[in-house]
Amino acid sequence: MMKNFSGSPLHCNNQIPNHIRERNNRKSSVLSALPLRLSLRGYGFCMATLFLFCFGSLFYQLNGGPPRILLDIRQYLGESTYRDDHGPPVPRVLPFPSQVVYNRVGKCGSRTVVILLRLLAEKHQFNLVSSDIHNKTRLTKHEQVDLMRNISGIPQPFLYTRHVHFLNFTRFRIEQPVYINIIRDPISRFLSNYFFRRFGDWRGEQNHLIRTPGMKDEERYLDINVCILENYP
Ligand SMILES: *[C@@H]1O[C@H](CO)[C@@H](O)[C@H](O)[C@H]1NC(C)=O
Ligand SMILES: *[C@@H]1O[C@H](CO)[C@@H](O)[C@H](O)[C@H]1NC(C)=O
Ligand SMILES: *[C@@H]1O[C@H](CO)[C@@H](O)[C@H](O)[C@H]1NC(C)=O
Repeated sequence: MMKNFSGSPLHCNNQIPNHIRERNNRKSSVLSALPLRLSLRGYGFCMATLFLFCFGSLFYQLNGGPPRILLDIRQYLGESTYRDDHGPPVPRVLPFPSQVVYNRVGKCGSRTVVILLRLLAEKHQFNLVSSDIHNKTRLTKHEQVDLMRNISGIPQPFLYTRHVHFLNFTRFRIEQPVYINIIRDPISRFLSNYFFRRFGDWRGEQNHLIRTPGMKDEERYLDINVCILENYP
């Protein structure tokens, strides 16, 4: 039994048979210089260490391997990499599509859709990035490239949404995401826009005052038919 553990750092060399000690002589020359005296205390200490070792080993195996912290220390100190200890990483299977852009068209219920998307993002674990810029849909070429770089840098799977015109990613050699959009019957959309610009909506952000500043009240409250027929702005 001791033979099996002769390589382990147990300080019991006084029990190691001579032929093993000779083999290990170079390594344990310091140890073999100790007096060959078998005290009860030394024996007890040796057995206790052995027991501890055995229990530790049993515990180690029953627990399904070394604790994570030991692996981390080993990885940190030694040459072994994460790969050696854990095998090649399991490639994360991304759903298709994993890059989605929803370039919301105004007055087509996109705010409701974004609220729904927020719930779905939590449920299905994708990144929802919703731009706060609502009043700039037409971008210069430079701004387009900037935005496309930003979008493609979002960790996948993601869904990016903004009121913005179509961006051709392929044209700039960036992987083209999947586009989604929602449009609406043009007349309904026109009506929605008409009232939105004049009266805002439930957000109460005084949108109508920003969008139609200086509009006189008699004009603001015009019937839509009159407004069109009489060519008001
Ligand atoms: C968009 O709105 C912001 C603040 O609401 C304003 O500072 C900015 O000038 C607006 N941009 C355009 C292009 O209208
Ligand atoms: C891209 O991201 C940077 C850093 O977050 C930001 O400063 C910049 O305004 C973004 N550009 C666009 C076009 O969104
Ligand atoms: C995007 O740009 C590429 C290269 O310029 C062109 O071939 C392609 O037709 C464009 N796609 C769209 C949808 O405009």
